[in-house]
Amino acid sequence: MRAVLILGSYLLLVIQPVASAQTSEEIFEKRLLPIFQSPKPSSCTECHLSGVELKQYILPTQEATFAALLKMKMIDTEHPEKSKILEFIARAPDSESLVSKKMRQQELDAFKSWILAASKDPELRNTKATAKAGPTVPDEVIRHARKDRVLQSFVDNVWSEVGRCAACHSPDRNQKQVKEHGDSVSWIMLDAPQATMNYLIENEILNTDNPEKSYLLLKPTNQIEHGGGVKLKVGDRTYKQFLKFATDYAHIVNDDYKTAEMLPEQSNEVSQVSEIWFKVTGVPEKYHQKLLKVDIYRAGNDRRVATADRQIFGPKQLWQNHLSLTAPRDSKRAQEIRRIAKLPPGEYVARISIDKTDRLERNPDADWTEDDYIGQVPFRTDWPPGYGRMTVIEYPH
Ligand code: HEC
Ligand code: HEC
Repeated sequence: MRAVLILGSYLLLVIQPVASAQTSEEIFEKRLLPIFQSPKPSSCTECHLSGVELKQYILPTQEATFAALLKMKMIDTEHPEKSKILEFIARAPDSESLVSKKMRQQELDAFKSWILAASKDPELRNTKATAKAGPTVPDEVIRHARKDRVLQSFVDNVWSEVGRCAACHSPDRNQKQVKEHGDSVSWIMLDAPQATMNYLIENEILNTDNPEKSYLLLKPTNQIEHGGGVKLKVGDRTYKQFLKFATDYAHIVNDDYKTAEMLPEQSNEVSQVSEIWFKVTGVPEKYHQKLLKVDIYRAGNDRRVATADRQIFGPKQLWQNHLSLTAPRDSKRAQEIRRIAKLPPGEYVARISIDKTDRLERNPDADWTEDDYIGQVPFRTDWPPGYGRMTVIEYPH
């Protein structure tokens, strides 16, 4: 009888702490460590393509984690529910799937319960930080790898030029190509740069192991047979822009950027392909298939308003192409050309350059120089749009 009583009170002693609220240690082990150990991406990746992950804020023990987060001012022991790490986790995109909403809530609940419990523990509050937590790359790299920034770069470098491909690749214009080649020719999503970028990524038209071997580049340059023939030349401006985006995207998803210095420089000019066509006649036949560039300036002004480059067709002594309108990145004009790609009628000057030695084709990183310059031609035009109504000038002699 007595033995049973003793056993009974012993059991009571053992059971009691388990039945009460969990300790911070238990919360850490049951709810935070699994995030640390999980190979699955956290809610941060909805906005950050790389550079930050929730697991970077967790170290193997709660003592080390608490001390490190405290030192980074990610935890506020006076107002634990206002801790900065909780703000980071709570940040949600405008629209998100139910699955990611649930995941975010789980992460938030776990961190919140742990921080509330741990903040009450004087021993934890006094632990010295021995290891560092948080991202290992600088803020510039984190910013560069944000999804909204990546989309902006896609718009600047690729979307602004896909007008060149739209006749055969945009679903509003390519019924004939779809009938012959199937739905996969429609890789442009109408008026939707984000969806187009996602499509190119998901269908591996962008190659993140070897950006130069992306279909987006190999096809239009006819390096692998292209139903549309040669639409870009290796080394021309559109090619360079596509390659710039493909390379940068690959570096971002492969976590290649470690310092701010490694990030690519942003061009201080934006461009937008237009429906305006431009033609140069009387081009020397000897330059057949060389890359010719036209830069357009308003008469008496030194800032270019449009540009285009493409191969010369020697047998007909001819060069023609769409113009891409250009403007300084932060100008009002930059926003204007995105909406309406037009030029005002008036007096203009065309400056012509030719890549006589195929330098640009051999090295897509190379740039145009003074040596490529041929000469300039003044002209007057109303800039009517359309292939049938090109503005035509004569090659300078
Ligand atoms: C809804 C989108 C979104 C989510 C989700 C998101 N972030 Fe951010 N994050 C941003 C934006 C936008 C900025 C830059 C602007 C700012 O700091 O307010 C940023 C900035 C940061 C910075 C500072 C870098 C700088 O620009 O100074 C860090 C660190 C960071 N986030 C970590 C995280 C972590 C960790 C998570 C997941 C727990 C996360 N973020 C989730 C959008 C998000
Ligand atoms: C005159 C029509 C035409 C134009 C303009 C054109 N293409 Fe194409 N393209 C095709 C046809 C037809 C196919 C399907 C046959 C093939 O795969 O070559 C194709 C296929 C492709 C594919 C493979 C798509 C897939 O997944 O099946 C890519 C990538 C591509 N083109 C890129 C471009 C780019 C980039 C441009 C603009 C710079 C462009 N094309 C301009 C006709 C065109």
